[in-house]
Amino acid sequence: MTKYKSLLLREKEEELQNDLLIRTIKGDKTSRRPVWLMRQAGRILPQYRAVRATTGGFKDLLKNPALACEVTIQPVDELGVDAAIIFSDILAICEAMNLTYDMVPTKGPVFPKVITSRADVEQLRVADGVDDIGYTIEAIKLTKQALNGRVPLIGFSGCPWTLFSYMIEGQGSKTFSKAKKMLYAQPEVSHLLLQKITDSIINYVKAQIEAGVNVVQLFDSWAGVLTPSQYNTFAFSYTKQICDALQDSGVPITVFAKGAYHALTKLSDLNCDTIGLDWTIPRAYARGIIGNKKAVQGNLDPCFLYADRAAIKQETIKMINDFGNGRHIVNLGHGVYPDTPLDNVKCFVDTVKNYEIKYS
Ligand code: CP3
Repeated sequence: MTKYKSLLLREKEEELQNDLLIRTIKGDKTSRRPVWLMRQAGRILPQYRAVRATTGGFKDLLKNPALACEVTIQPVDELGVDAAIIFSDILAICEAMNLTYDMVPTKGPVFPKVITSRADVEQLRVADGVDDIGYTIEAIKLTKQALNGRVPLIGFSGCPWTLFSYMIEGQGSKTFSKAKKMLYAQPEVSHLLLQKITDSIINYVKAQIEAGVNVVQLFDSWAGVLTPSQYNTFAFSYTKQICDALQDSGVPITVFAKGAYHALTKLSDLNCDTIGLDWTIPRAYARGIIGNKKAVQGNLDPCFLYADRAAIKQETIKMINDFGNGRHIVNLGHGVYPDTPLDNVKCFVDTVKNYEIKYS
């Protein structure tokens, strides 16, 4: 059975009321573009902050399936987006592998212990998915029930390189020079770690699919700090393994390798359905390489949402037209920033929803 046939069956079983995202990925000529925002769950909504304030903090919220379900659905209610993305974090998998982290307010993630040697890598376990990140799997099941087919649910994981970089650096970084140093100084240990992360991701994403997600997005947020050659050897090859392992899952995969514009040709040959584009990639250039082989997703500069609403409307329509008649899922070129005015986010979403596509 082809992927899209099994996808249709899954959809039918479920009777999605809003299947615009799925139909766009499949290549249907929809009358408008689907829209959602990376990092829409949390960050911008006062309702999210109110729920978080009832917990001991971000990680408590993450591990509480009922609350994770609630904050996943908030942007669907408040913004009217065409998809929900499960509330979790790419770093959950690091903890499942035996490397814990704290989410420090105003600073972000901090790992008390980092990976420096082969012995450290050997201490890590391959995460199982269902047992080790059961709270997110449970949250997915609850969210599917609560959404009751209103919109599709997107599951996600970080890509191996991006998770590797946190496990080595222990926190965010401007240069990721410690993680890059590891690639140059200890390539064998790096491959060992990347493979363990890859195996964990495959287990985790399969568990998410089993629990009912309709689409999976793989975030390679720090792809852009690598040279093209490093990207191929230490990032792309592992992302490819994941796409290959998931190709019979019946669920479409999106790969978002931020900053890896040099790899667009290779990305467009992956066993995946959608390529996420950041805002630095010229739209006609991307479409020229990807054609309509895959859907594209993106790519308004998140900072554009600080502009006035007339400008947001104009630029959003321009973006839709720039991508032409091929498959396109409207999104930002990276996650929405926490201080973005909510009315501007709504203006972006409403503009897409009111803009009819005319096929020539
Ligand atoms: O997209 C969504 O809305 C779903 C939930 C989601 C979160 N993190 C929740 C979160 C997703 C998809 C992520 C992915 C993620 N997490 C990435 C990849 C996406 C990207 O933006 O490139 C990365 C690099 C992380 C790591 C991470 N998590 C950092 C650096 C931080 C601190 C800064 C921040 O606010 O993003 C987090 C915390 C985090 N993850 C929050 C949320 C809602 C904020 C925690 C809070 O203040 O409540």
